[in-house]
Amino acid sequence: MKKLKIGMVGYKFMGKAHSHAYKDLPLFFPKTVHPEMKVICGRDLQSVAYAAKQFGWEEYMTDWKKLLDRNDIDLIDINAPSDVHKEITIAAALAGKHVFCEKPLALTLKDSREMLEVVEAAGVKHMVGFNYRFAPAVMLAKKLIDEGRLGDIYHFRAWFLQDWIVDPSFPLVWRLQKDIAGSGSHGDLGAHLIDLAHYLVGDITEVIGMSETFIKERPLPFEMTGLSARGSDSGEKGEVTVDDATLFMARFAKGALGSFEATRFATGHRCKNSFEINGSKGSVIFDFERMNELQVYFANDEEDVQGFRRVLATDPSHAFAQHWWPPGHTIGYEHTFIHEVVELMESFREDRQPVPNFHDGVKCQQVLEAVDLSIEKRQWIQISEV
Ligand SMILES: NC(=O)c1ccc[n+]([C@@H]2O[C@H](COP(=O)([O-])OP(=O)(O)OC[C@H]3O[C@@H](n4cnc5c(N)ncnc54)[C@H](O)[C@@H]3O)[C@@H](O)[C@H]2O)c1
Repeated sequence: MKKLKIGMVGYKFMGKAHSHAYKDLPLFFPKTVHPEMKVICGRDLQSVAYAAKQFGWEEYMTDWKKLLDRNDIDLIDINAPSDVHKEITIAAALAGKHVFCEKPLALTLKDSREMLEVVEAAGVKHMVGFNYRFAPAVMLAKKLIDEGRLGDIYHFRAWFLQDWIVDPSFPLVWRLQKDIAGSGSHGDLGAHLIDLAHYLVGDITEVIGMSETFIKERPLPFEMTGLSARGSDSGEKGEVTVDDATLFMARFAKGALGSFEATRFATGHRCKNSFEINGSKGSVIFDFERMNELQVYFANDEEDVQGFRRVLATDPSHAFAQHWWPPGHTIGYEHTFIHEVVELMESFREDRQPVPNFHDGVKCQQVLEAVDLSIEKRQWIQISEV
């Protein structure tokens, strides 16, 4: 297959990030399968027509079901809120289309399991959008762990801190409504941390959590895109039905202990997706706000120079780096999506499933749901129980 013909649903925050990735990929990754940006789909005709022109799609549509009838579409890329992931995925797979779906996979574990069953039965490729795996500094952490250079892993300590809804007058966007988003900071930010934990340290066996909704009511929204919104002038308010912050502790199958904190109320922190991993031979620290860097500590350094060193993951030895700029010429958020899409394209070139795929999406959802259950029951929950 020389080109993969894409049909995309959703044209705002993630729609733009994925479109940009498809557009830039051929310039920097000439040897992989290339995407063909065929059709972008959204509900509002004027807005989707504008997005098609701005992002570089050949055509636009307002009904994603019609997208599935077309023979010239190979893959459906889902960038709509979580409440529609399941319906679109299942219909796409039954129509024989490959599926690339944003995270979290679904509103519930049951739904995500059903999605996995259907894509597997249909024999299509499936990918879930955990883009932070594709930061070269995160991939360096993975390499150090896999090569045993950090020794036995004792601690995974992670926090994803944002502050975009600290203001109580910020409107009730879809991310604050359980029936559309599934959960709040937990499924939005915590899902990324859980996926990174699975990727770096392995399976989680048990969890116990706590959560809070600090602001219970908010003005109804008038307009929203991604993390920004404008409230309506009516003065009407609605109930916030998701968590503003969720924290949990975890035990890993290989013996490590984990702590996770996801919040949209960490005043002053915009997108601090961070983890620290401590092993018997060394440690690493990653902070997405300085995403090109990995702090690395090796316990066998000479005593008088022991300390964390700052490794800039932009040398040709680092993942993806040889495709970009000379060492030290850093990359950004959008590059995580380009790398993610490279993995998707490579899966077609090599005829295998991309990673992370729906198995990873389901595994993440299992931990999300186990934490919710532990909060409800105020007790530890075994992951195998959910
Ligand atoms: N990987 C990441 O880091 C990351 C970041 C942000 C969002 N996301 C995920 O991406 C998805 C989309 O989030 P976003 O931030 O792009 O949202 P957004 O609000 O910016 O855009 C959502 C898009 O979906 C469309 N849409 C909404 N309901 C629809 C429906 N019923 N049918 C068809 N289209 C519909 C909207 O018109 C809009 O174009 C969510 O699942 C979210 O969790 C992932």
